[in-house]
Amino acid sequence: MDNRSIGIFDSGIGGITVFSEIANDFPSENIIYLGDTAKFPYGGKSKETIIELTKENINFLMKYNVKLIVIACGTATSQALEEMQKIYDIPIIGIIEPTVNNIIDESVHKIGVIATEGTINSNSWENNIKSKNNNIQVINKACPLLAPMAEEGFTENEIARLVIKEYMKELKNEGLDKLILGCTHYPLFTKLIQEELGEKVEIINTAKQVSKTLAKMLKENGLDNNTMAGKHEIFLTDTKCKFIEIANKLFANKIKIENVKKAII
Ligand code: DGL
Repeated sequence: MDNRSIGIFDSGIGGITVFSEIANDFPSENIIYLGDTAKFPYGGKSKETIIELTKENINFLMKYNVKLIVIACGTATSQALEEMQKIYDIPIIGIIEPTVNNIIDESVHKIGVIATEGTINSNSWENNIKSKNNNIQVINKACPLLAPMAEEGFTENEIARLVIKEYMKELKNEGLDKLILGCTHYPLFTKLIQEELGEKVEIINTAKQVSKTLAKMLKENGLDNNTMAGKHEIFLTDTKCKFIEIANKLFANKIKIENVKKAII
């Protein structure tokens, strides 16, 4: 039993897909969420910058004595996770390995991955999938407009529909078994993506997979907390943004964010 908080971070609102899943699956866990809204977007930044920003975020969360850190950002996972696991001695998980471990089986022959440019260029998803099964064909596609659109709340309108249509063009006729949403902002576009690709393609939301892996990690390391109602705190590096309004609109059926605090990093 360990009542310290779980720390979660992303560049912005996307990590709330992971936060809401974890908050729902572990109602007695205390959670601190950090959105690095001052430096958003991470998707096109260099690896060096992503490593620096990831360190800053982890150092901030460590000040709150968190017991475990979830990097709820595909870009930071793909470019900084390994480095961070060498530097810090608390458990840190990202979104790639838990997802690959939970979804790759013999039924998968061809899989699509959509993510930010940084994530796609790092090849992390493809390397991870191939290390499990080298015969799986991986089709990668960067979708750089989607994260900024999600921050703006444009996830189901006509603009979103057109952009999704364009991005899905090359994936549509590939005969994919599954499509991984390799950026945590992308589950907000699930409805439009599914409409475009058809029901045969299984859309993978990494948040669910991270939460499954987290359950095991908390148990195995004796870190779980099941004695009380968990408290949630949300910090942003820049609070002059529409985070609360957009998050409450996009996640209306899952969570209610009452306030956010300014993170001094
Ligand atoms: N949500 C992030 C990811 O999973 C980052 C998007 C961005 O900041 O560009 O990659």
